[in-house]
Amino acid sequence: MKVTVVGAGAVGATCADNIARKELCNELVLLDIKEGIAEGKAQDMMQTATLLGFDTKITGSTNDYTKTANSDVVVITSGLPRKPGMTREELIGVNAGIVKGVCENILKHSPNAIIIVISNPMDTMTYLALQSTGLPKNRIIGMGGTLDSSRFKYQLSQHLGCSPSDLNAVVVGGHGDTTMIPLIRLATWNSTPVTNFLSAEQQEKIVKDTMVGGATLTALIGTSAWYAPGAAGAALVEAIIRDEKKLFTCCVALDGEYGQKDICLGVPVIIGKNGWEKIIDFKLNESEQAAFNKSAEAVRSMNDVLKTL
Ligand code: 2OP
Repeated sequence: MKVTVVGAGAVGATCADNIARKELCNELVLLDIKEGIAEGKAQDMMQTATLLGFDTKITGSTNDYTKTANSDVVVITSGLPRKPGMTREELIGVNAGIVKGVCENILKHSPNAIIIVISNPMDTMTYLALQSTGLPKNRIIGMGGTLDSSRFKYQLSQHLGCSPSDLNAVVVGGHGDTTMIPLIRLATWNSTPVTNFLSAEQQEKIVKDTMVGGATLTALIGTSAWYAPGAAGAALVEAIIRDEKKLFTCCVALDGEYGQKDICLGVPVIIGKNGWEKIIDFKLNESEQAAFNKSAEAVRSMNDVLKTL
């Protein structure tokens, strides 16, 4: 198995680190446009191999896509990260050009790859990857909801005083501060609705804190977060490579599911060796569906910006 991570910034490097530690592939390529950074980080990670006990061979490359040839999975993290006070959407102008170029190069050298998109604004970048590669829709996966659902479980665990691993909770819709929809009605703590244990105020706070989870970290750190985004990317790589058939919320092309068409948006999907294999209908209630439609509207108007670039 061969995996490429494009972009050796904090998110890309963390994602690669997680992939190597889990030995998800024998060959892992880290690629960046900045001279030397991918080679340096790849070497640094390789120097942890005997300490951590993994056999994955990590290679760095400065923009040489021939090194990425025949990758089974490619993770795209390229582009500018958010600065404090910035929305993910403000990155569209610069990142669209970068992501389009990356997609063309990937396709040239790995025509059979499954692509995971992490770059922001993630919903629009996933849509762009789908349009510009022309690949079957199941092979283009936006990571956003996987990260947001993990943040949602963290917030819930803080209020419930429980292990996040005992929780089942998903965030659907867009990967934006105002477009994501943490589905608290459907969240459970070992099969019991979390709403049984939380006041209305607590529920409201959890939903709100989840939605601004990324922005909160950007304000604290001074740039975009990387541990959870990198780990979320690696979790999807794992589900593909191990053909896990696990359910994640991912940004995928909708063709009438959840009442939307011609858009990539976060919905529960099964991830396995073919990419996203099936969309699961969580049967949203009226207000959740209204929020989903509103989220789609916002993402669609962001996608329209692509036509003006
Ligand atoms: C985040 O939410 C990087 O968009 C990512 O932290």
